Amino acid sequence: NWPDFVEIKEVSPRDGLQNEKGWISTDDKVAWINILSDSGVKEIEYSSFVHPKWIPNLSDAREVGKQIKRNPNVFYSALVPNMKGLEHALEAGIDGASVFMSASETHNKKNINKSIAETFPVLQEVIQEAKQERKRVTGYVSTVFDCPFEGKVTPAQVIRVCDQLFAYGVDDISLGDTIGSAVPSQVDQLLEAVLSRYPKEKIIMHFHDTRGMAIANILRCLQYGITRFDSSVGGLGGCPYAPGAAGNVATNDVLYLLHGLDVKTGIRELKIQEAALFIQSKLGKDLPSKALAHYVST
Ligand code: HMG
Ligand code: MG
Repeated sequence: NWPDFVEIKEVSPRDGLQNEKGWISTDDKVAWINILSDSGVKEIEYSSFVHPKWIPNLSDAREVGKQIKRNPNVFYSALVPNMKGLEHALEAGIDGASVFMSASETHNKKNINKSIAETFPVLQEVIQEAKQERKRVTGYVSTVFDCPFEGKVTPAQVIRVCDQLFAYGVDDISLGDTIGSAVPSQVDQLLEAVLSRYPKEKIIMHFHDTRGMAIANILRCLQYGITRFDSSVGGLGGCPYAPGAAGNVATNDVLYLLHGLDVKTGIRELKIQEAALFIQSKLGKDLPSKALAHYVST
């Protein structure tokens, strides 16, 4: 019993590139996002309006936002940490803003330089202002299963953050397995708590594939009726403030699974392979996606 349709948010231009060492030129980013925009994907997180010192690779977020060719069928969102980021994002053009924080204290501090309690009022203001500008707002919650510094994170810690973000007015929440450590029994534990509290349509799952468990976890989520996932072409990505974390689950691999199960996504796999090969050639290294490697070898 699989859902009829699953919605993918392509996060590679943000989550993917933020962790790459080599600089990708603005022109290349724009050309790449234009390929992604042609794939049939419904949402692209195109960059991040954080401090350029923290994420140098996305320091051209404003130029990218202004130069990409907007496909009217695609929703363009970006990561926004605070009011300054929101101001820049609105100037560059966004359909939606994604705010972010962690369920665990130490990761939150390392990632955004504030305690959880100090983060709440910052995000509250961003959420309210973005809503006034009639933008959809997604709340990312990181380290929902395990924290690279504190170990296991309980569903209660996750719920505490989600409750606050929903109270401030976020439209939906993306739950992040930041370090790609979860196994399906952890997904069970978290989703039982989360789905007894919020409608499943408001929950997005965001898996990193550090240990190759992401596809197993996504399959588990489908069994709970979750129909929204974040992924990156080729499996590009990672969080620079989560040591050892690998990229997001590869869009190529997720599409192979979903289309094989007869679940529709509206996305053309060939276009995703093309986008992966494009960025792979710019980065000068092979990306981890298995479906991509198989495509290349045949
Ligand atoms: P801070 O240094 O504490 O900021 O950084 P501040 O408010 O004290 O400001 C210090 C200076 O930065 C000021 O300038 C501000 O104007 C400037 P000064 O007055 O000294 O000249 N500033 C900015 N400049 C440009 N853009 C901005 C901005 N904000 C302040 N937006 C901050 C706090 C949050 C900005 C910083 O810690 C930061 O940028 N962190 C980003 C970390 C990050 O991007 N991490 C990766 C993304 S999260 C992720 O990957 C997880 C996710 O994928 C889900 C998952 O996998 O779990 C979403
Ligand atoms: Mg991530």
